[in-house]
Amino acid sequence: MRQAGRYMSAFREYSDRIPFRERSETPDIAVELSLQCHRAYGMDGIIMFSDILTPLPTLGIDFDVVRGSGPVISTKVRTLDDVRGLGNPEEVDFDATLPFVREILGSLSKEAEEANTSLIGFVGAPFTLAAYTIEGKSSKHCLETKRMIMSNDNDGAISLFLDKLSIMIGNYACHQIECGAQVVQVFESWAHQLSPKQFEVYAKPAAQKAIRIIKDRHPDVPVIYFANGGSSYLELQRDMGADMIAVDWSVDMAVARAILGPEVPVSGNIDPTVLFGTKEQVEEAVRECIDKAGGPGNRHLLNLGHGVMQGTPEEAVGWLVDECKRYRGKQ
Ligand code: CP3
Repeated sequence: MRQAGRYMSAFREYSDRIPFRERSETPDIAVELSLQCHRAYGMDGIIMFSDILTPLPTLGIDFDVVRGSGPVISTKVRTLDDVRGLGNPEEVDFDATLPFVREILGSLSKEAEEANTSLIGFVGAPFTLAAYTIEGKSSKHCLETKRMIMSNDNDGAISLFLDKLSIMIGNYACHQIECGAQVVQVFESWAHQLSPKQFEVYAKPAAQKAIRIIKDRHPDVPVIYFANGGSSYLELQRDMGADMIAVDWSVDMAVARAILGPEVPVSGNIDPTVLFGTKEQVEEAVRECIDKAGGPGNRHLLNLGHGVMQGTPEEAVGWLVDECKRYRGKQ
């Protein structure tokens, strides 16, 4: 998760000079940044360098990523009129509005084929993108979003917003697949803001709708669903139509496996701060995670339980990848 990033000095050479949107929307740079970590560590996949916010402008929502403060969304969406004023998601022409995506994924699919690995695309889930937009930035309590949830029975604004986002995101994921992505991960990064009931009523049906759009058009492309902070309602995620559930680091993998059952493919879930430990600790965490998911070769994609943190020693990522390859070799 978040393979690319500021823990790598090769990445910082770009991020120190070039603003985020330029970096992620200029094909040569985005391709280079997508490949840096794969070249350095040889993970089993190449992730497009992009962001979950990247497609928001297709609906008329403008954003930036500001150094030091993170994503900033300048378009205000808080009322039913605001939502009605957004673009029609059925009419988005992704080649016209996000022309760099086809170029980036086209180049990366050649690289992935040569490296005999998979090309992974991703999207944000509707609730997370709605909440980012409503709050305008990262938010501790998501109060404006919660207010819209509480008044939804009166105005239906949040339902309409989620519906528009579901359609746009489903279609955008299909576009990524049609441009070369072989797997798509759906990030519900703000699941920790939701009670199980709010998840069930708002976030889940919206994400399901996006996933259904993807699977209807591309039944053979695996979809991974990740709800960050959603470990307290894993049982609600089993029937979302995703092929794999990615699990955050706050739940023991054996518990997650017990809740999801032996048949559900899982991804995760090493605590990213383990990478600040010793080589022995990193290797132990890899083996423990694989064993708790059911042992090598048992419907498990080893991953962190959230993104690689800034300041992570680069060599620790290598220890993790190497131990994973060594240990799974025993299957
Ligand atoms: O190689 C990869 O892993 C792909 C790149 C990737 C990025 N963002 C690049 C990026 C992925 C998969 C994402 C997804 C993303 N973006 C999520 C979902 C994953 C998660 O963490 O739950 C979220 C919530 C975002 C929103 C976002 N974009 C945040 C919170 C930040 C960090 C802001 C900050 O200043 O720390 C961004 C910007 C961003 N996107 C960075 C990267 C590498 C860091 C800033 C930079 O490079 O300038």
